[in-house]
Amino acid sequence: MVYKDLVGNTAVITGASSGIGRAIALRFGQEKMNVVINYLSSEDEVHSIVRKIESFGGKAIGVHGDVTKEEDVKKLVAAAHHHFGSLEVMVNNAGIENEVPSEDLTLDNWRKVLDVNLTGAFLGCREAIDYMLEHRIKGRIINVSSVHERIPWPHFLHYAASKGGIKMMTETLALEFAPKGIRVNNLGPGAIDTPINAAKFSDPAAKASVEALIPLGYIGKPEEIAAAAAWLASSESSYVTGITLFADGGMTKYPAFQGGQG
Ligand code: NAI
Repeated sequence: MVYKDLVGNTAVITGASSGIGRAIALRFGQEKMNVVINYLSSEDEVHSIVRKIESFGGKAIGVHGDVTKEEDVKKLVAAAHHHFGSLEVMVNNAGIENEVPSEDLTLDNWRKVLDVNLTGAFLGCREAIDYMLEHRIKGRIINVSSVHERIPWPHFLHYAASKGGIKMMTETLALEFAPKGIRVNNLGPGAIDTPINAAKFSDPAAKASVEALIPLGYIGKPEEIAAAAAWLASSESSYVTGITLFADGGMTKYPAFQGGQG
């Protein structure tokens, strides 16, 4: 445990049965928090995450739900209230991506990615903030964005647009709810070793081409993103709101200029 003020706080994490969400759930468990683990599939994995969190001294429950469905997101906040009596931290992490040249991007595909990545995060923000206002909680919202809220990404137009949308949503909410003491921040991972990238990173050439874009020289681990999430959730970041904390090995720092080019 690193952040004593997080002990006993309750968090909802969407899409938490794998990858970054799973790592944040485990890290929050190590901080002895209560964790609502939202999942769309992989119920068995959720049981194993719950057991691990309990072994760390935290508490957890798994709650199935689709973040694009308003009633499912309401269910997540209700579960936090019913099981743990509160909600201090909301992590909107669920996300999807797929590669397609923009001239071939179907309206259905565009809508699906915007729906999960942006509308899902909006619903999570709205429900959590509504709860925090009602219960006078100075809560923290963490939206998992991406370096692609800043770096354009051909063939991933819908994904980049969704993450750009999250950036402005976060900044607007941060401004709107700062007077209530609710902090809203983005976490912007670079290239992280999770299932979303499994196919790409299993090809050594594709993996090397990604590594070449990272000044620190390696693909990030989900635990390195979870560490940033724990800091944003804790009072150690008490004066921070409306930012994107990039945890990206320097990817947003124009690596093409690394050798003094330009
Ligand atoms: P992942 O594929 O392991 O995690 C995404 C999770 O979201 C999965 O557990 C999936 O079941 C869940 N999900 C998808 N649709 C959902 C829905 N409708 N309702 C509820 N859950 C749903 O991949 P990863 O990498 O852990 O992704 C987590 C977040 O991090 C995403 O928002 C992604 O865009 C973001 N990210 C990931 C990066 C990476 O390199 N891995 C880089 C930058 C951002």
